[in-house]
Amino acid sequence: MTRTIGVFTSGGDAPGMNACLRAVVRTAVYHQCRVVGIYRGYAGMIEGEFVEMGPSSVSNIIQLGGTIIKTARSEEFLHPKGRAAAAQYLRREGVEALVAIGGDGTNQGAHCLWEEHGIPVIGAPGTIDNDLYGTDETIGYDTAVNTAVEAIDRLRDTATSHDRIFFVEVMGRRAGFIALEAGAAGGAEIVLVPEDGVTAEEIHKTLSAGIARGKMSSIIVVAEGDEEGGALEIARKVQALGKFETRVSILGHIQRGGRPTARDRVLASQLGAAAVHALLNGEADKMAGRIGDRIVLTPFRETWEKRKPLSRALYDLVCMLAT
Ligand code: F6P
Repeated sequence: MTRTIGVFTSGGDAPGMNACLRAVVRTAVYHQCRVVGIYRGYAGMIEGEFVEMGPSSVSNIIQLGGTIIKTARSEEFLHPKGRAAAAQYLRREGVEALVAIGGDGTNQGAHCLWEEHGIPVIGAPGTIDNDLYGTDETIGYDTAVNTAVEAIDRLRDTATSHDRIFFVEVMGRRAGFIALEAGAAGGAEIVLVPEDGVTAEEIHKTLSAGIARGKMSSIIVVAEGDEEGGALEIARKVQALGKFETRVSILGHIQRGGRPTARDRVLASQLGAAAVHALLNGEADKMAGRIGDRIVLTPFRETWEKRKPLSRALYDLVCMLAT
């Protein structure tokens, strides 16, 4: 049976990573395992930045944003040499298995550690983007959506006062989950996601129809990965078609910080515990996720190769309600 479990957070931080870390450490200790925390994700693994962790190392962190063991994007780990150095440090430290908390890059690195060095890794999906197959939601997504909605509400006040068109850019990399859900909750007039292909001309037409009905201001939520470009580019194209005064607000990394919502804390706790249980059951090379109310394990490779679809029904609803 696995006796020493390593845990790390990697890639972009996400609210709820600390809650997940807490669950991993406490579940492992509950099952009489030793826990080694690895600082700065794969970058720290390559440098041997390890620390012993126990139940009290994770006291009072469930409510904190960010990650107390830090995170990084490691260029070195993309190469076999970097991964070999990491594997050597893990062996020297007596780490027999790992829990990796992060997004798709994290999962890809974890898959390599298993394939090249036989180190069993189970993932817990920590990313605001929600772009991983194998879980309805990722840890941090709900908090990010709520942060974006709060910003949209504020922007609507000033958009209404000035009769302006606001383009609000949200994160999500190549996926439109944050844009769609924040747009739906914020009553957006238009949502632009990479998964569709709405052009500047179409946006202009929709806005003009709104003006004709007396709708003098609008909020357009733009996913950062939209094909027409970011919010600045799209706003420029729409403004060039005439009639509207536009403003742009790029929410950026604000969406990555802050106290995790209750929903994220619960998900993080469930998936952190599930990852440890999976390792103790001899599982490897998989990510723990929650689908409906079931905890499921999905092979790492599928988490980035298969695409989780955006809800077409929610997209259509946003369009219908915007009229
Ligand atoms: O993956 C999380 C994320 O916040 C994306 O939404 C965004 O595209 C990217 O990370 C930004 O990365 P960085 O913090 O390295 O600029």
